[in-house]
Amino acid sequence: MAAGGDVSAHGMWSSRWLFILAAAGSAVGLGNIWKFPYIAGENGGGAFVLVYLLCIALVGVPIMMAEVMLGRSARQSPINAMRKHVVDSNAPAFWLLIGWLGALAGFMILSYYSVVAGWALHYTVLTASGAFEGVSPEVAASTFNDFLANPWLVLFWHTAFMCLTIWIVARGVSGGIEFFIRWFMPALLVLLLVLLGYAVTSGGFSQGVAFMFSFEFDKLSFDGFLIALGQAFFTLSLGMGAIMAYGAYVPRESGIASTVITIALLDTLVALASGLAIFPIVFANGLEPGQGPGLTFVTVPLAFGQMPMGGLFGVLFFLLVSIAAITSAVSLTEPALTWLVEDYNAKRWRVAISIGVICWLLGLGSVFSFNLLADFHLVGTMTIFDLVDYVSQNIMLPLGGMLIALFGTWVLSKETIRSELGISSELAQGAWTIVCGIVAPVGVAMVLVWTLYGSLAGG
Ligand code: PHE
Repeated sequence: MAAGGDVSAHGMWSSRWLFILAAAGSAVGLGNIWKFPYIAGENGGGAFVLVYLLCIALVGVPIMMAEVMLGRSARQSPINAMRKHVVDSNAPAFWLLIGWLGALAGFMILSYYSVVAGWALHYTVLTASGAFEGVSPEVAASTFNDFLANPWLVLFWHTAFMCLTIWIVARGVSGGIEFFIRWFMPALLVLLLVLLGYAVTSGGFSQGVAFMFSFEFDKLSFDGFLIALGQAFFTLSLGMGAIMAYGAYVPRESGIASTVITIALLDTLVALASGLAIFPIVFANGLEPGQGPGLTFVTVPLAFGQMPMGGLFGVLFFLLVSIAAITSAVSLTEPALTWLVEDYNAKRWRVAISIGVICWLLGLGSVFSFNLLADFHLVGTMTIFDLVDYVSQNIMLPLGGMLIALFGTWVLSKETIRSELGISSELAQGAWTIVCGIVAPVGVAMVLVWTLYGSLAGG
């Protein structure tokens, strides 16, 4: 498996399209189907959606281009890719932080991501057993609360999801990740289209569309603007090296800009389609969309439970959430895994299992945050789950993303930037520097300062 010429020792995607699917698989996840609809709901719908789209285009796309560029030009794990770039550019060792911070963020995110993904697995089985047919709002709410209050059941599904993820990762880039992506991504798109079709006929579709696309700016707060930027980040899997690691397996002839734009478009379409699949059935049943994290696990099953054939479509919905989560989870392990394989010459499957065990153990804190340790607060009123989610998503990812954007414009050599991005004119070079070197990092710095200020002031 030695690297011969311009290939990665870990494997390569068989084509540009496979990379697009794998990166879209990483991007499309709980962020799109669980988070996006509820934060859009909480922040008033339309105007929030518009700002979110701007953030994807102006911040997300350039940072993703920088990640793919850094990964592909080094063909190594993010940690070693940064070592190479730092040496080649004669830059201070400070920049190595990008690789280390990312690998650490991957562990942290996977630890709680697996817990929430486990909820989705459990709900697939629950809806299949008809648990929500004709239930009242109170029953839907208590079903969720009772489930969370049962540490062993939550632990069981966390374990099941982690085993599934590690099994896929251990099989390698081509035999594992790519193999499953080939099946899962088309399945995901078909499921989404079926659910969208169902929402169109639910009777609440026009209300759902109006909610998402009526741009009433008075409903948008400054907070909403910054939440949109943070969400753009998380949903595109940026700032922790997942895309950099995947970028190392991209064939040389693929154009980075067009590839990244396709990935961002796919991710955005799935987020919008999820909203359009969820809001109409919520409205059709006289429910409210602004109900926070419970939207997916309380309001959605409740709505399906009231509708003809709702049981079947409810199962399809939670299957969709589970598949989306697994294709994201596999990418969370890649930065740390590839580094351990490179530096310690370890077998991929051994490293995969070790990472799985560590993340599973870390995840216990999140599993018990809803029951045994619900009253254990490390900071303010945050449970372990809240804290790990908050620090990884609101601090580590934006920080990593900002450093990646700055490194990919001001530190990396002009020749590498030009050849990787296929830049041939001064104008394009200038545009790259302005968008990725100024607009994107300033935007991210705003989120960082705001979240830190908010957490210090608000506790
Ligand atoms: N993008 C994934 C989602 O939307 C989450 C994720 C973040 C995955 C960072 C990998 C890296 O659910």
